[in-house]
Amino acid sequence: MKQILLLLIMPCILFSCSQENKTTVTSPDSTIALSVGTDNGRLYYQVSRAGNPVLNKSFLGFTLADGALGEDLEVTQVAHASFSEQWNQVWGEEITVDNTYNEMTVTVKEKTNKQRTFDVIFRVFNDGIGFRYHFPEQPNLNEFVVMDEWTEFALSKGGEAWSIPAYHTEYYEGLYEKAPVSALDTVCTPLTIEINDGSFLTIHEANLTDYAAMNLTPQAGTEKLKADLTPWSTGEKAFVKAPFSTPWRTVIIADTPGDLILSRIMLNLNEPNKIEDTSWIEPGRYVGIWWGMHTGAYTWHQGPNHGATTENTKRYIDFAGRHGFSGVLVEGWNYGWDSDWTKEGDKFSFTKPYPDYDLSGLAQYAASKGVRLIGHHETGGATKNYEAQLDSAFALCRELGINAVKTGYVSPRLDGKEYHSSQYGVRHYRKVIETAARYHVMIDNHEPVMPTGLQRTYPNLMTQEGVRGQEYDAFAADGGSPPEHTTIVPFTRGLAGPMDFTPGTFNYDDNVLHPNTRPRTTRAKQLALSVVLFSPLQMASDMVENYEGAPEFEFITSCPTSWAKTLVPEAKIGEYVTIVRKDRNSDDWFIGSITNAHPRELNLELSFLEPGATYQAKIFRDGDEADYQSNPYPVTIEEMEVTSESTIVLKRAAGGGAAIRIERR
Ligand code: NOJ
Repeated sequence: MKQILLLLIMPCILFSCSQENKTTVTSPDSTIALSVGTDNGRLYYQVSRAGNPVLNKSFLGFTLADGALGEDLEVTQVAHASFSEQWNQVWGEEITVDNTYNEMTVTVKEKTNKQRTFDVIFRVFNDGIGFRYHFPEQPNLNEFVVMDEWTEFALSKGGEAWSIPAYHTEYYEGLYEKAPVSALDTVCTPLTIEINDGSFLTIHEANLTDYAAMNLTPQAGTEKLKADLTPWSTGEKAFVKAPFSTPWRTVIIADTPGDLILSRIMLNLNEPNKIEDTSWIEPGRYVGIWWGMHTGAYTWHQGPNHGATTENTKRYIDFAGRHGFSGVLVEGWNYGWDSDWTKEGDKFSFTKPYPDYDLSGLAQYAASKGVRLIGHHETGGATKNYEAQLDSAFALCRELGINAVKTGYVSPRLDGKEYHSSQYGVRHYRKVIETAARYHVMIDNHEPVMPTGLQRTYPNLMTQEGVRGQEYDAFAADGGSPPEHTTIVPFTRGLAGPMDFTPGTFNYDDNVLHPNTRPRTTRAKQLALSVVLFSPLQMASDMVENYEGAPEFEFITSCPTSWAKTLVPEAKIGEYVTIVRKDRNSDDWFIGSITNAHPRELNLELSFLEPGATYQAKIFRDGDEADYQSNPYPVTIEEMEVTSESTIVLKRAAGGGAAIRIERR
């Protein structure tokens, strides 16, 4: 239940606020101050925290197809408001989210030229800021084309950022590299920066609707970053019709990396849930006929090694039923895989199964085992072909009790032309989410545009890829992701929302296609990743036979995917991270703790447990001789009684980790 505690609107004319042609809004706790002004007719904002500058004068505005919109401006009105609510997530890293901010809306108008007007709405939270442009309907700014957005983030102090380049990384599936801000290429957001004073900033966006995704370009030799919108193939950035609001530009300001993970600015800047009946939205854990395609055990296409056969799927369903998985993903079930599907995606049918796959029989068989099939719609980037079949495809899902679909867009461009992160892509992805919602289907979207928190509005948008996930440990030519990768992604891509990373590979020795490629982790770290990497739909990646007989598999099957609470007791980006999460449906706690290539001790105080209560901890840790390179498999399982006074001391091996379940007695 939303509780609006305070809504206070106090419009005032600028000059009555400040004689300096400048005005200010602070965070509810008064720590962060954002001020706005004009300089030579151009609008800027700047930000400080506890009196220390965070962002210097950062200019705002646009180049439109017919010239600049952002010069020769005067501020015509400033309105202040305060807002506070608590809202509950259908699923998430915690149940209740606090949304408390002070708002300042600055209206500007061109003094000459066409006298066009627009607003910039600033919201200041205790942990950062967000702002968006709003274009009201007006005679001289009706339908227009954005050629460039000027938005700047002029860092007051230098820093080093973890980034992936914007136009040279397929589907955001790159390894994040740390480099000084001034040395960056054009990079993707979320961009996390360790500022030279030890604080952390993450720049991203929220509620990307009918607009292009924002990348960031450093301004040569400075600490200033400027928005770079992904273009259409024809060069325009966005086609806009007023009234229109851009996505929010967001900056989290934190003292620790853990605080970045706990910030909810992005979700708070999305609109509330539009799906009234959410009873069909079910977080869960799944297995899939999947890893085998990437390692060469199976093929997607028809032939002797076709993975998606009726018999093989029954085996997976039986396994899922026995171990309490909610779903079985089956890739390669439908016509379209037999040619080069990344170039000929328009051959995909989303309703016609291959002859050796009894779709409706399997859906019934799954239901009899308390499991659901998870649909797979690989489009090969052919969005037009997919859109033409959307209704029939999702109607079929509904008819068969398939309430989750993994979508995919493997192709360098959508429909041979457009970037996934362009306005074209953004429009397509939204259409899929909205259509799926009408048919009560949850979405797990691969090769997405970078997520921006839309799951608040459409909680059927469960999880997305847009990350170099576990699959690279099956096929990457470089042999698999380095051990530090998973200590970085929670603080970069992870800040954009749930990741379908698919941890949980147990067998590193059966890769037919790429024998030198494998997870660069210990097995205990694979367990820990189920907690560290949040995803309300999460797949255990391996072929099911590789889990048989492994006692540590119990951790994966017992681990929830949606949480009542999340804590981050220790984290150093690129080195280690420990995440503590409380189950939504019990008083149990789950902990995942990982390290990079360096072995490390974990000293975990359990002060988050209820004082006076007794718990049983089951620890799945690296065996004493474990090492991700030479001896990745040993997992030691230990049990002990613990209370809120206890400290767990564990050694994490090189490339290792620990997973802990703490059950209330
Ligand atoms: C790329 C996806 O990330 C992967 O999970 C999937 O198996 C293939 N595309 C085929 O759709």
